[in-house]
Amino acid sequence: MMRRRELLAAWRPLAAALAGLGLLPSAVYWWRSTRSGDSSSSDWADAGPTAGLLEDVWQPRSLEIERRNRWRVDRERHTVYARRRGTGFEVVSSVCPHTGCLVQRDGAGFACPCHWSHFDGEGRPLDGPAPRPLDRLEWRLEAGRLRVRLVNFRPGAARSEPLRP
Ligand code: FES
Repeated sequence: MMRRRELLAAWRPLAAALAGLGLLPSAVYWWRSTRSGDSSSSDWADAGPTAGLLEDVWQPRSLEIERRNRWRVDRERHTVYARRRGTGFEVVSSVCPHTGCLVQRDGAGFACPCHWSHFDGEGRPLDGPAPRPLDRLEWRLEAGRLRVRLVNFRPGAARSEPLRP
């Protein structure tokens, strides 16, 4: 007859295997999210109907994007400036390329309230510490609505350098 100690020793590997099976779904989920290498569901966000956009007049458009980070979903709100240009559109980020404050409309251009950079109507810096023009954003049309690809850019750099979300 098996003694109690031998019985426990025989059951230990089985108990460990069962515990391992319990962790399997979490491990698979983690592995799949790591393999995709993408913490964002989509960088494209709806910036509203194109009907209200005027030729050469920058208009603020508020948009929301969902960012997935493994099990967490964050909703971010952003403002971009868009205008009609010929047969297409132009969209710039409202994030100042100096250190990331939000620019505001100022006459035909923009001004940053943090360190007083000014930008002309094309988004080019006129004065202040901003090292480059306002960052241009990709856009596309979907059923009469403007969709914008939101990208964060490296602050302080002389050229637009996209950062991973
Ligand atoms: S953050 Fe805009 S000028 Fe410094």
